[in-house]
Formats: sequence, C-alpha cells, structure tokens
Amino acid sequence: GAPWGSSAWHCSLSASCECEFWPDLTGLECDLALRLVGQPLARQLVVRGLREFVQDPDPAKPLVLSFHGWTGTGKTFLSSLLVQHLFRTGLQTAYVHRFSPLVHFPHAEHLEQYKDDLRSWIQGNLTRCSRSLFLFDEMDDLHPGLIDVILPFLGSSWVVFGTNYRKAIFVFISNTGAEQINRIALDLWRARRDREEVGLQDLEPAILEAVSKNPQSGFWKSGIIEQHLIDIFVPFLPLKRHHVKQCVVNEMASQGLLPRPEVVDGVADSFSYFPKEEKIFSSTGCKTVASRIPFFL
Ligand SMILES: Nc1ncnc2c1ncn2[C@@H]1O[C@H](COP(=O)(O)OP(=O)(O)OP(=O)(O)O)[C@@H](O)[C@H]1O
Ligand SMILES: [Mg+2]
Repeated sequence: GAPWGSSAWHCSLSASCECEFWPDLTGLECDLALRLVGQPLARQLVVRGLREFVQDPDPAKPLVLSFHGWTGTGKTFLSSLLVQHLFRTGLQTAYVHRFSPLVHFPHAEHLEQYKDDLRSWIQGNLTRCSRSLFLFDEMDDLHPGLIDVILPFLGSSWVVFGTNYRKAIFVFISNTGAEQINRIALDLWRARRDREEVGLQDLEPAILEAVSKNPQSGFWKSGIIEQHLIDIFVPFLPLKRHHVKQCVVNEMASQGLLPRPEVVDGVADSFSYFPKEEKIFSSTGCKTVASRIPFFL
C-alpha cells in the first residue's frame, strides 16, 4: 500500500500491526477439503493450530509448524494454500518469506555470511511486520548449523524494541521422517486397516527420532529440536493409487477438462508404486500429475 495509507501509518506506530494478515481459516478449511487429497490429518492439524494461534491476541510464542513426508504428498502445495488464506494479497504479499536452500544458501563455504544475512533479514522483517510468515522449504538441503540462528526468534522471550515477535509464523518442510511415516502406513495396510486410522500419537515419535538422528536433516543437532520449539509436527501420508486418480480429476477439472475414466486411469497407471511386492503407494505422490495429463488426452 501507499506509505501514507492508514495501515502503514498504524504499522509505524504500533507493535500490534497486522500488515496484510487477514486470516480466512474457514476458507482455508474448505479449500483444503476440496483440493488437498488424502491428507486429513495434516489438514486438521494445520487448521486447528492456526485457529488457536490467530485467535490469541497475545501468543506466548510464535507458531512453529514442521511438515514431514514423502515427495509429492502435498507439503509445498499445502504451504501455498496456507499463504493464500492468511494474507489479503495471497502469494503476492511482502510479508511471507520463502527460503529454499539451493537457491538462497547454495555454498557451504559462505555459511557465516548466510547466518548473518538470515538473522538480520528475519529481525528486519519482524520489526516491519510482526505477523510475518517464514517458510523454510527443502530443509534436508539446508546446511546444519544455519537454522539455529533463528532460534532466538522462536522462543517465548523475544520481545525487542517493543515489537511482539511472538505473533510470527514459521513453517519448516522436509522429507526427513518420510520413510518412517511410510513404514507405519504400510504396516497398517498389511494389518488390513485404513491408512487414515493413523493418528499423530503414532507418527510424532517416529518423526522426532528421524529428525534428531539424521545428519542429513537440516535440524541435525539443532536447538530447535532440543528445546522443543516446534509446536506441531505435521505428517503427510504416502498417497495410494486412488489418491493419484483424485489428483488427476482435480487437475483436469481445474483446467476445464472433462475427466474421462480412460485418461484418469492412464495417468494413474503411468506412476510407479512401492513397495515392489504390493505396489500400494505412489513413488512420487501426485507430483507431475499435471504434466502427464496431455499425453493421455
Ligand atoms: N495431497 C495432494 N493433494 C492434491 N495435490 C497434490 C497433493 N500432493 C501433491 N499434489 C500435487 O503435486 C504437486 C507437487 O506436490 P508438492 O510440491 O506439494 O510436493 P511436496 O510434498 O512438497 O514434495 P517434495 O518433498 O518433493 O518437495 C502439487 O503442486 C499438486 O499439484
Ligand atoms: Mg516440496
């Protein structure tokens, strides 16, 4: 907005500045129910966590979410739907900061520089807008040791210059824990139970263990884990063939195409499934659905 706009004026004076933060959680819930396939647990955890957080005028700490799961299961997809429903200008907002290690922190030898840059970037943006959202995608590619510079912003004590840093939202996304989640889903399938019977209480310990023990995880030896600063671990379950079909139907509908059964089946059959014997879960989730459809039209 214009610098003399009432919101900018308000923001320059007040720590309770809400910037473009305009959460529409009912809209988010509906959108997720319609578009996020096969992840009811992730959907519930995210919506419930956000609802509690945004209703609290004076939260005790920032909201810290960590998404875990196999490739193509909807982690990045969910994060972008979230942004669209939290900020008035959606993905255009200047108050969402998305980091991707290979793009923003590609050279291990510049670690110290990256640390300084990241710390001041976060501090500067939180001073500008306490309702900022910081998204760290592909955490597994992040150099361990970098993420701890944001530690002071995640706890409960960080109030500086009268700015309430505790209103910020941090989202981490990684594949760490995916094998463990898949294993639990497979065990359920082998026990002839529905994969959606699984609850966070079954998955969280497995994710936590993977995150703390995997040297490839960006959280390796991180104080974020040791100090229990993650509020919600959000597991993404591996997707089955019928979920892939649902993704194809959704994608075709969004392109204004009539989802004919032979196209839907053709695309779903073109994916590979694991484990080798039973072929239950899609090896790449719903990733590349959109680019495969034209070959079957
Ligand atoms: N659960 C899902 N429901 C609907 N569409 C999905 C789902 N999962 C993946 N997709 C589709 O596949 C695309 C890729 O998914 P996404 O980028 O979210 O995967 P990811 O979980 O972030 O994988 P990676 O770990 O490889 O980054 C999405 O843009 C979306 O079109
Ligand atoms: Mg992703």
